[in-house]
Amino acid sequence: MTKYTIKDIARETGYSISTVSRVLNNKEEGMSKETRKRILEVVEEMNYRPNQFARGLITKQSNMLGLIVPNISNPFFPELCRGAEDEAVNNGYSLIICNSDDQSSKEERYIRLLKEQQVDGVLLASMNKLTRENEGILTDSQIPYILVDRGLDVSTATGVFMDNFKGGYLAGKHLIELGHQKIGCMTGPVDITNSNNRLKGFLQALKEHDIPIPSHYIMNGNYHMEDAYDQAKQFLANNEVTALFASNDLMACGVYRAAFELDISIPNDLSVIGFDDIPFGEVLNPKLSTIRQNTYQIGKESVKLLIKKIHNEPVESLFYEPTLVVRKSTTKLPERSFS
Ligand code: RIB
Repeated sequence: MTKYTIKDIARETGYSISTVSRVLNNKEEGMSKETRKRILEVVEEMNYRPNQFARGLITKQSNMLGLIVPNISNPFFPELCRGAEDEAVNNGYSLIICNSDDQSSKEERYIRLLKEQQVDGVLLASMNKLTRENEGILTDSQIPYILVDRGLDVSTATGVFMDNFKGGYLAGKHLIELGHQKIGCMTGPVDITNSNNRLKGFLQALKEHDIPIPSHYIMNGNYHMEDAYDQAKQFLANNEVTALFASNDLMACGVYRAAFELDISIPNDLSVIGFDDIPFGEVLNPKLSTIRQNTYQIGKESVKLLIKKIHNEPVESLFYEPTLVVRKSTTKLPERSFS
């Protein structure tokens, strides 16, 4: 099939290349409707598709942004992508979404791919730690980038983050205020700062209320539901905790499954609180208490910051406050009558 160029469109319509280019770039100010209509008709007839790469060489912009997330199967990230994509489209950009699967090598491959595609900027919700090599590719190629959700600890780059310490603190404080003294915690990956900060906030709340927590009450999770189920199955079978903080909602789902199989009632035998406020939390039975992240807004704001950075405007990192969402999975410690 013949691949037509903008010159072919111009020749076929009798208009200049610049007139055709203005129509293709939606810059038809002052142009007659007939001219625009004729050009678009011929574009359709000839099945012309502009060469984004060639366009980028001329305008020095591709009107494309890249977003790399670490785990597209975790409902937190699609919500983040939704906010980012809506803002990108509202500003005339397309968004290329990449999934690194928490692998630094895969993250690097996508950074290089986005560079080759001449994206105008990159949003990086990096896996555990943004490696010097990966950040170096971006800085060496002078591609504007914004960190999202992670990477705060290893980079001075601007980003949009959550106050995870406060989120963990709110979770611990909520369980304590319900009267729980024996409280367990399932952390996220130990090499992810936002996970560590949630644990630190949680421990701070217990410390402020003089509530001890034996080391075996803390499980090192990885943000994945299946592993959380395996860990919780063992933990709950041998522990007397009355409450548990899971550092993300997906792991809380794993705890639910383990509790159900062990005939442990949530919340009567075990109060459970998660983190993220993914949509599933509302449909779990009982509905999940959690710490809400402004996930959609974080996605939107990260694109706003990136567009500013692309236009060389000053940018500063944004930090969102978490909020406690109390539903039915946490309750007061029942007054147990000990015979
Ligand atoms: O659930 C996945 C977690 O990874 C979220 O809490 C989010 O903060 C991301 O870092």
